[in-house]
Amino acid sequence: MSLRIALLTSEIVPWSKTGGLADVTGALAKHLAIAGHDVRVFTPLYADIDLAAHGIAPPRDGVARATVPGSSASAYLIDDPAWFARPGIYTEDADEHRRFIALTRAAFAMCRNLGFSPQILHCNDWHTAFGPLLLAAEHASDPLFAGTRSVLTIHNIGYQGVFAARDVADVGLADRGRLHQDDLRAGIVNPLRHGILYAHAITTVSPTYAREICTPEYGMGLDPDLRARGGAVSGILNGVDYDEWDPRRDRHLPIHYDARTLAAKAELKRTFLARAGLPFRLGVPLFGIVSRLVAQKGFELLFDTLPPLLARNRAQLAVLGSGDARYVQFFEKLARDFPQAVSFRGGYDEPHAHWIEGASDFFLMPSRYEPCGLNQMYSLRYGTVPIVRRTGGLADSVEHFDRATGRGTGIVFNDFDAPAMSWALTRALTLYADSGAWKKIVANAMAQDFSWTRQAAEYVALYERLLA
Ligand code: ADP
Ligand code: GLC
Repeated sequence: MSLRIALLTSEIVPWSKTGGLADVTGALAKHLAIAGHDVRVFTPLYADIDLAAHGIAPPRDGVARATVPGSSASAYLIDDPAWFARPGIYTEDADEHRRFIALTRAAFAMCRNLGFSPQILHCNDWHTAFGPLLLAAEHASDPLFAGTRSVLTIHNIGYQGVFAARDVADVGLADRGRLHQDDLRAGIVNPLRHGILYAHAITTVSPTYAREICTPEYGMGLDPDLRARGGAVSGILNGVDYDEWDPRRDRHLPIHYDARTLAAKAELKRTFLARAGLPFRLGVPLFGIVSRLVAQKGFELLFDTLPPLLARNRAQLAVLGSGDARYVQFFEKLARDFPQAVSFRGGYDEPHAHWIEGASDFFLMPSRYEPCGLNQMYSLRYGTVPIVRRTGGLADSVEHFDRATGRGTGIVFNDFDAPAMSWALTRALTLYADSGAWKKIVANAMAQDFSWTRQAAEYVALYERLLA
């Protein structure tokens, strides 16, 4: 059965991206369309999007129309300069919530203009989390939306979009009785909470994170609301877009390889080190990091554990990322203290991210929490052994390597503390020095398959259950 799906998102590859949300919505739209579904994406036309570079015609009547590359999924980039003509994607402006309420409302209006009757309204994160509530409150009697079922996917419960209750009129609801009254009494409106209350189904991006966010430790205050929804909450692991992330044909890399041609990976590492101004050192592994540098990602675990290894010439490190000053300063200082071992690049740089994935021996993701995480899955395909904490999607995609059985794809540690991190780093060095075990783990890693074909089918199965 071919389904009509409206996908609402604040960011999507290839037009706008700050993190994994963009990769996931882009790949999901593409793969749902390839599977034969009628997918319509609604997303902002941010001022930074270079339409000409993407081959998109200028907006007309408030929208620029495009097709998600590699598929027939239609995208409607909403052109509303009052909200979207600001530098960057997200702002710290006081009216941030209004920008995305405008997007959500524009999606309903566009469906009306197009005469498009979605069977599924799929919202993502706090930005479009008012979709299910608006559907129930304002469109219930509209034949166009009569059969529409709503899905909210939580990519990160750490961002809820909370704003002050004095701005509650911004939601634009005639009947405020539908809003969360306890929150209003407490002086706030929480968009993500409303998505959890009103969506027909709530998903998050890994089965483990789906369980974790139902607990006070990981729920960031929303665990009671999630528990109240019971079986409506589930986890579907993200996939990888192997058109973009595959060392056999990565368009950002000059050298390509697969599991049988690992000498070419070693060559790539040499080339990368030369470009980064670092010497090649035989037997010394290169650790890679590509990340938003925020508390979620757990890099403080490296503060005391990594410098001793660098000081003893046991490891090299390549970091790409931007974010909070304490992490930026830590990596900048490492690069100053160990100029032969550490390369740090700030900002956002797509090609450099691919270089680090390809050239590194290990990839570090010691996250405090991780809804899914994509780079550990990219790393597996690149034969770059992930070192991860056992949480969320990291736990669901990386299996700890067991020397005795030869099973496993990475190094997995449990506790969020320096001794556990230190244990993992030591394990990594031992493994790297043992060429038999090393060959095995790299082969295991590269044989993993997290393609979207399978993951998109899980979303379709969920949609069909909702419509049955
Ligand atoms: P999150 O969404 O929490 O940031 P994910 O692991 O799901 O984490 O996705 C991060 C995505 O953003 C990956 O595609 C990663 O390569 C990319 N990324 C993160 N930081 C940078 C950066 N500084 N430059 C280029 N790509 C980056
Ligand atoms: C979020 C999460 C990340 C996840 C991504 C895409 O930004 O932090 O773990 O992979 O969304 O779902």
